[in-house]
Amino acid sequence: MRAFQWAPKPLPIIKETKIGRNMPCWCGSGRKYKQCHESFDKKVDRFAFMGKEVPSRDMLKNENDVQKCRESAKINMACLDAVGEAIRIGMKLSEIDDIVYQVTTKMGGIPAPLDYEGYPYSVCTSVNSQVCHGFPAEDRTLKNGDIVNVDCSTILDGYFSDSSRMYMVGNVAPETRRLVEVTHECVELGVAAIKPWGFLGDMAEVIHKHAEANGFSVVRDIGGHGVGFEFHEEPWVSYVSNAGEDMLIVPGMMFTVEPMVNMGKADVIVDDDNEWEVYTKDGKPSAQWEYQVYVNEEGVEVISH
Ligand code: MF3
Ligand code: CO
Repeated sequence: MRAFQWAPKPLPIIKETKIGRNMPCWCGSGRKYKQCHESFDKKVDRFAFMGKEVPSRDMLKNENDVQKCRESAKINMACLDAVGEAIRIGMKLSEIDDIVYQVTTKMGGIPAPLDYEGYPYSVCTSVNSQVCHGFPAEDRTLKNGDIVNVDCSTILDGYFSDSSRMYMVGNVAPETRRLVEVTHECVELGVAAIKPWGFLGDMAEVIHKHAEANGFSVVRDIGGHGVGFEFHEEPWVSYVSNAGEDMLIVPGMMFTVEPMVNMGKADVIVDDDNEWEVYTKDGKPSAQWEYQVYVNEEGVEVISH
C-alpha cells in the first residue's frame, strides 16, 4: 500500500569499512580518523554487539549538510506561515496547494511531494478524519469547525526539509481542539526526550504515553523517517514503541517527529481509488504535527517546524 511505501528496508549487517587511524575520517571533516570518528565508531560497535539497532554511516549529516537543510527549511516554514495567513472558512484546498507551489518556487526550491511516486500535488492537506496524504483538490472547501494538517516538504539544492502544522478553521469543537493541542504537546515532549546515545523508543514512549493519558491513540502503521539527503530515508520511526527500543540515536542523525494522533481507535484505511489518502477507520478526527530534528553532541536542534 502506498501509505507504507517507505517501510523499513532490512538493516545492513555488513560491517562498515575499516580505515587507518591516520587516514582522513569518513565523515568528510578532513581530520584524521583517530582524532575524529574513531571513538564514535567504537561506541556504536559496542551497542551493535549488545544487539541494538544502530545507524549506518550514510545516514549521518555533517555541518555542511545541516546548513543546507536549514536553508531548505526556511522555505518549508515560509510556506506554512503563508498558509497560516491565508487560511479561512470557504477556502479551496487547491489554494493551499497554489500557495505552497508559489512560495517554494519563488524562493528557489522545489515542492518535494510533486510527482513523488506519482503524487499529484505540491503539498498534503488532511482534513478531520483524514490521517495523512490528503489531496488539496479543487473541489474541496474548508468549512467552519474543520481541522486540517498541512504537510509541506521542500527540496533546495538537493537537500530536503519536511514539517507540518495543524490549522483550526473557525469554531472548532472543544474535544477536537484538545486533540490538536495534545498532539502538538506530544511532539514537543517527544523532541525533548531525544538525546544522543539514547534510543528512538525513548521519544516514542513519551509521545504515546501523553496521547493515551489524554484518551487518544497513536497510529501504528505509518511512521516518521530519516530525512535530508532524501525525502524518506532510514530509519523508519515508530511513535508507539517504548524506552530503550528501536534505533540508537547518535550525533549526525536527522529524522522527523510526526505522530498521527486519533481521537478514536488507531486503525487506519487507505483510499482504494487513489491509494494515497489515509483515513481513520472509525471516521473520528486525527491530528498530526511534524518537526524535523537534527541530533548533535549536545542534544537536538529543530530544523523545521
Ligand atoms: N510529507 C509526508 C511525510 O511527512 C510525506 C508525504 S509523501 C507525498 O513524510 F508524496 F504525499 F508527498
Ligand atoms: Co515526514
